[in-house]
Amino acid sequence: MKIGCLTLDNITILAPLAGITNLPFRILAKEAGCALVCSEMISANGLVRGSKKTKQMLKSLPEEKPLSVQIFGSDPAVMAEAAQIVESSGANLIDINFGCSVKKVVKTGAGVALMQQLNNAEAIIKAVRKAVDIPLTIKIRTGWDSSGKQALKLSLLAEESGVDAIAVHPRTASQGFRGKAEWSIITAIKKAIAIPVIGNGDIVTAKDAIEMQRITGCDAVMIGRAAIGNPWIFSHVIALVRGNDILPIDITHRFEIMIKYFKMSVQCFGEKAACRMMRGRLGWFVKSLRFSSKFRESIKQISSENETIELINTYMETFEKCSLSVIPAKAGIYN
Ligand SMILES: Cc1cc2nc3c(=O)[nH]c(=O)nc-3n(C[C@H](O)[C@H](O)[C@H](O)COP(=O)(O)O)c2cc1C
Repeated sequence: MKIGCLTLDNITILAPLAGITNLPFRILAKEAGCALVCSEMISANGLVRGSKKTKQMLKSLPEEKPLSVQIFGSDPAVMAEAAQIVESSGANLIDINFGCSVKKVVKTGAGVALMQQLNNAEAIIKAVRKAVDIPLTIKIRTGWDSSGKQALKLSLLAEESGVDAIAVHPRTASQGFRGKAEWSIITAIKKAIAIPVIGNGDIVTAKDAIEMQRITGCDAVMIGRAAIGNPWIFSHVIALVRGNDILPIDITHRFEIMIKYFKMSVQCFGEKAACRMMRGRLGWFVKSLRFSSKFRESIKQISSENETIELINTYMETFEKCSLSVIPAKAGIYN
């Protein structure tokens, strides 16, 4: 699978998830085999204004590469300048957000608002394309109605304007994340354009990813929510593509990954901020495990690195003592 000059190792791509796909999260996905990781959406205005907080979101490490950085905005000149900043930060690919349906973003004319302002969408794509040399992708929704006409129009226009691949999350603007993703829209776009199409939406298990590719013919699969607390979904998709079995995740490995995620977050954001973040996030990794509610309760107030590691280790020891293994209660943990 190629996106412009970039060759991906396999068909799996991490979806951009605001507030989640920061550097430590991306490293976990990468280590689990994900071929392309994506940043959270980053404000083009913030980058151009030189906001310290926004610029920090560009922080990356060689081991997560190739990295796609997603920007959002509504002004072609600002988007072009932001794209140059992203390119000079060492990102391997730029993605433009045409799908965000959050009110705060839509009312500025950015995100999915652009799917009903195709002239401005085209101006943005052309300005960004002219400004940078690295591959350019866009991420779109179905549009403002369920017909998919806006998605199709934007896809054709994007292809003509030099976009290298299109990620399609086939839900309407008003759907948010409710209802079902309409995979037939992915099929229609795949049939209409020659550049790669990345299918996204409602991949919950590795089998779903294989199904999406079989049904829609998409070139790659993008996984979002199912990767939260479950980076292994990427290795599971790869296993299935290769005709291998999906192996359960070793419980010790699961805890090691939690500690790694926490330690990387401390390095990246500092001890205090990382502890605050992890009060909710470590719980992602233990869903459906025995005693997980007790563990989640125990980490609600964590405030230091030592305390957090001790609590994770205590939870791990509880497992070892009971000689218990993972309870395969919910899909998502195993597949
Ligand atoms: C918490 C959260 C944050 C998201 N942030 C972004 C974002 O920054 N940019 C974007 O294009 N999509 C964003 N999305 C949408 C996802 O990338 C993806 O399209 C959607 O979740 C459907 O895929 P999934 O079913 O695999 O989760 C977000 C979704 C969620 C749940």
